[in-house]
Amino acid sequence: MPLRTQSSLDVNDAELQQISSESSKLVTEYMTTITERQVRAENHAGKTLAAIDTELSSEGRPVQQLIEECRKVMDLSRHNGHPRFFGYVASPSTPIGAYGDLIASALNSNITCWRSGAAGTEIERMIVRWLGALIGYDDKSKGLLTSGGSMANMIALMIAQRRKSLVNTSREGLWYAAPMTIYASEEVHMSIPKAADILGFGRDNVRTIACDERQRMRVDLLRQQIQTDVSKELRPFCVVASAGTTNTGVVDPLNAIADVAAEFDLWFHVDGAYGAPGSLDAGKKSLFAGLERANSVSLDPHKWLYVPIDAGCLLFRNEAAARAAFSTGEEADYVKTLGYSDEEAFAFWDYGVELSRRFRALKVWLTLQYYGSRRIAQAISEDIALAAYLGESVSNAEDFELLAQVELSICCFRYVPRKGMSDQELDQLNEKIMETVQKGGRTYLSNATVNGKFALRACITNFRTTKSDIDETIAVIRDAAKK
Ligand SMILES: Cc1ncc(COP(=O)(O)O)c(C=O)c1O
Repeated sequence: MPLRTQSSLDVNDAELQQISSESSKLVTEYMTTITERQVRAENHAGKTLAAIDTELSSEGRPVQQLIEECRKVMDLSRHNGHPRFFGYVASPSTPIGAYGDLIASALNSNITCWRSGAAGTEIERMIVRWLGALIGYDDKSKGLLTSGGSMANMIALMIAQRRKSLVNTSREGLWYAAPMTIYASEEVHMSIPKAADILGFGRDNVRTIACDERQRMRVDLLRQQIQTDVSKELRPFCVVASAGTTNTGVVDPLNAIADVAAEFDLWFHVDGAYGAPGSLDAGKKSLFAGLERANSVSLDPHKWLYVPIDAGCLLFRNEAAARAAFSTGEEADYVKTLGYSDEEAFAFWDYGVELSRRFRALKVWLTLQYYGSRRIAQAISEDIALAAYLGESVSNAEDFELLAQVELSICCFRYVPRKGMSDQELDQLNEKIMETVQKGGRTYLSNATVNGKFALRACITNFRTTKSDIDETIAVIRDAAKK
């Protein structure tokens, strides 16, 4: 093999220009047509691969062909940024956020630590402070950006356990100590039991506390369960409150839970992955009272701050506790930051799982600075108002029933075409409606179980949604019921 004398994979200026202009043309076309598309393209397994060249090219393919194939992939995707996409917890990406991802990828900085990505590290630490301040947690917040809420929750549980463990779990593992228990409501997101499983704490050691009729954790039962566990010589170590549950969007009573956490010396984690930005709405602020007492908070810029996936965040105050969980002082040579001042020796690997990390903060920074916090807060308030409008519309309609109070931006309801139908009949009907609606492509709802009933669920975290999209969704459901 002759030794390389010039760059092998770089392209000339004209080719670079072509890649850049064809790609941005496609992005512009997508963003300007998304509103007119079906929410979900007609699709079936294998259709995507049938639409593109599936043979791995040996000599490469022209950019026009690749962009054309990207267009087909986009056409065959579900459009989470469509104004009538209300499933799960999904938001559209802001245009500036999408280009932020491109800039980050072009720079390809590896945000492992300040030495590796000085600019990116400083910006990420600033973003963490901004997010802490925005949601009213702490304007000196520490923390890190993560792939999403699941990773943020897992890191929080790891820090909590290491902080409260009486043995050196990091060296000895979990084998020699009494089981340590976690407390969360029955409405907690699946990422909490999953994290307990991954971390070896065991899913059975996540005590699920029953909720009141509004799906909020019952604090009396929380206290009772902790007392029972203590009397059995188990070791309660953490309570997780939800600030915006995934099913119905309610906020647990944070102050009362913080009191119990303090009483039993537990780590208090708040999962605000979806709902924490709801605190930017003046009318909802009071729901979040007590958030500032948390030891750690998860929140996802890629959910209700309209930043493209992936961008989660874990906030905490006690940097030493987080560091103690992940940094053993026995690091390999390649991660030792020798000869740097404290600030310049800062490393994200001391606070989380990942070593190589994308420059996620760039798209969060650009999105927040481009619009400004007032406009972002306004978009969130509008989402909240639209969810309330949907709630009122179904409450006022003869043929609908609201199944849970609309607390933030999630509305759970069902279609009730006539009086006297049993819950079982209504469950079956509404499940069928949901399937028809999802496949139909005019609007997209997901489902939840509320007090044992099958609910159609709309989560509005979407700056493109307008009042007419809500009205149309109600009409689509009525049409689907007739099919
Ligand atoms: C309350 C809550 N926590 C955690 C998560 C997990 O977030 P991610 O999908 O970013 O891992 C979600 C996802 O919807 C959520 O709603």
